[in-house]
Amino acid sequence: MLGLIFFVLFTPGASEFICTSSDLEMSYTFCDSTAHVFMFNVTPCNIMNKTPWKAALTWIPRSDITFLKTVFQVWYDSAKALHWKRVLCSGADDKYAVCGALKGETLVSAFDIKGFRSEFPKGNYTVVVQGFSDDYEKNMIICLNFTMIVKQDVF
Ligand SMILES: *[C@@H]1O[C@H](CO)[C@@H](O)[C@H](O)[C@H]1NC(C)=O
Ligand SMILES: *[C@@H]1O[C@H](CO)[C@@H](O)[C@H](O)[C@H]1NC(C)=O
Repeated sequence: MLGLIFFVLFTPGASEFICTSSDLEMSYTFCDSTAHVFMFNVTPCNIMNKTPWKAALTWIPRSDITFLKTVFQVWYDSAKALHWKRVLCSGADDKYAVCGALKGETLVSAFDIKGFRSEFPKGNYTVVVQGFSDDYEKNMIICLNFTMIVKQDVF
């Protein structure tokens, strides 16, 4: 675990391997070239199976997470397919584990991703996830660039 953290810390811009299987491949890079202590993983690594993805996240944010707005952008075979925004943490009644995390604190979280996979037909995807600490999308605290290759259609 520690080895992985240091690997992430010292290799900004390098592609982090998440998973590969006969029907799916995923990896991510950070959009900026600065080092982040961030790890993300999903299991099981497939698109066919209907069980929800279990996601695991380890992150040492570089600022306090009192407000967090995420912007998702998905490109499918190079055409923009999806663009949505959501405020995850607003400082009141937050239901996500990342909300309230403090700068420099190690955040370890596990969650399910449901109702998401069957929407991806076979092809190559770029998924850019940005996290902002303000509603005006000025102060970006994290930005991940996922590459996802769906090798088979889900029937
Ligand atoms: C994400 O990665 C793709 C493919 O490497 C690249 O073309 C794109 O510019 C990157 N986007 C961002 C926001 O870093
Ligand atoms: C998707 O990416 C893989 C690996 O980079 C490549 O072999 C394949 O031709 C790509 N497919 C499309 C539809 O772009």
